[in-house]
Amino acid sequence: MADATAKKKVPTLMAATLLGARLGGSNPKEQVKLKVRMEKLKESIVREATVREAEMRDKEEKSAIIAAIDCLETTKDQEEAIDRCFDILRERLGHLYRREEQFKAVRGAYDESSSDEEIDEKGEGEGARGRVPGDVGDLGYWRGLLEREEGPGSDGVRPAEEPAAPSDPLDMRRELRNRGFLRVRGSLPSEKASASKAIVCKLRDAGWPPVFCFLYDAPWDLVKASWGQAELLLGGPCVLEPSLAAFLLDHRRSTGGERYVGQNFALPHRDYTYSASTFSDGEPKILSVWVPLNEVTTENGCMYVVPREFDENFDKDGTYEHMSVQTTGGMKDRRFLNFPINGAKPLPGQPGDMMCWFGNTIHWGASCHSAGAADPRASIALVFRRADAVQEFDAKACLTRQEVERRLAEAGSAEERLGFVKDALGYFEHWYDVPKGLREAIGDAGGGSK
Ligand SMILES: [Fe+2]
Repeated sequence: MADATAKKKVPTLMAATLLGARLGGSNPKEQVKLKVRMEKLKESIVREATVREAEMRDKEEKSAIIAAIDCLETTKDQEEAIDRCFDILRERLGHLYRREEQFKAVRGAYDESSSDEEIDEKGEGEGARGRVPGDVGDLGYWRGLLEREEGPGSDGVRPAEEPAAPSDPLDMRRELRNRGFLRVRGSLPSEKASASKAIVCKLRDAGWPPVFCFLYDAPWDLVKASWGQAELLLGGPCVLEPSLAAFLLDHRRSTGGERYVGQNFALPHRDYTYSASTFSDGEPKILSVWVPLNEVTTENGCMYVVPREFDENFDKDGTYEHMSVQTTGGMKDRRFLNFPINGAKPLPGQPGDMMCWFGNTIHWGASCHSAGAADPRASIALVFRRADAVQEFDAKACLTRQEVERRLAEAGSAEERLGFVKDALGYFEHWYDVPKGLREAIGDAGGGSK
């Protein structure tokens, strides 16, 4: 697979080499140097892709094996333990069979006789030579087209309108599965969202990052309301990953190049692989949930997702490009996207809405623009997991409803609630820098588990 990936990249490398050869003239020494460079580039791609694939697979196998052993060791009822073990192993095998089919399709797909240029030319030619449905030189033909259209507008074109989101749980699940994301309008208590917005602003004024909002009740009321929605969408009891996140963007700090706790996660990414996100029948076992605390717009930093229909690598977790949705190339650190940006969908919303997507749906948080700087995006983000899904062997244990209630009920001391914040801070350190003074202030040794 890694080799196939490298082969696909070779034409690009070859083009760079040919261009370099042209610039370098016909000097044989220069040409040899360029060829060597191309070979080295190819080798480095193979090496990196191989290591990444192996790491991903090993982690998946380990998680399944450890979960199975753990189940045999800790479940008292032997019959129940064996049944659960079978489930875990069958699940894993389901994903392996699925991948095997994908590998067959990839093997031999590279044909040295074809090139991107040929494909483009052929496609264009066919389109240009295609059927002409009328006399294009006759204005009457073009006017007639509009007359045949039905619609309320004077030009016969219906105004663009977002289709209403389904409200029936079965329809919602179908839409989530088909599109890879879902926006559920007005499904959460909007007054709790507004109260949470006020909390993150007060925290900011006092010098605390927004994730400290999890010391208060209003954001937890939103978490609990989202929990019910997640169980409806995932079709069973869920647990909550401790990777809680809260955001309050700051246009001035971002444009100044600062990496601060609570900033947007701006680069397109998948949180998990396809097989970590779904059961072997394709149903989601993880739901990423995103809750706006104020009105979120395309000006103040809304989320963007790549709908499943545009994401050809959505379920191709055996390919290098699956998790590397964007790569930074050698040409002056330019970024290359492994998905079509033209399919990206912004997700504006109101307090009380809930956005959610598969764990492997490509997403990112836009930056706050100057036009939205007066009321920048505030939001919280959560990850729910079906309680019966195998967790990665090295992940921090998920929270059950009972545990959350117990910890929130702890009176008199902030210790339990601060524990949520400390865990949460550690998860996203690759996006921002946690000030040393902040860690010291809350007695946190640092080092997240993910
Ligand atoms: Fe993410």
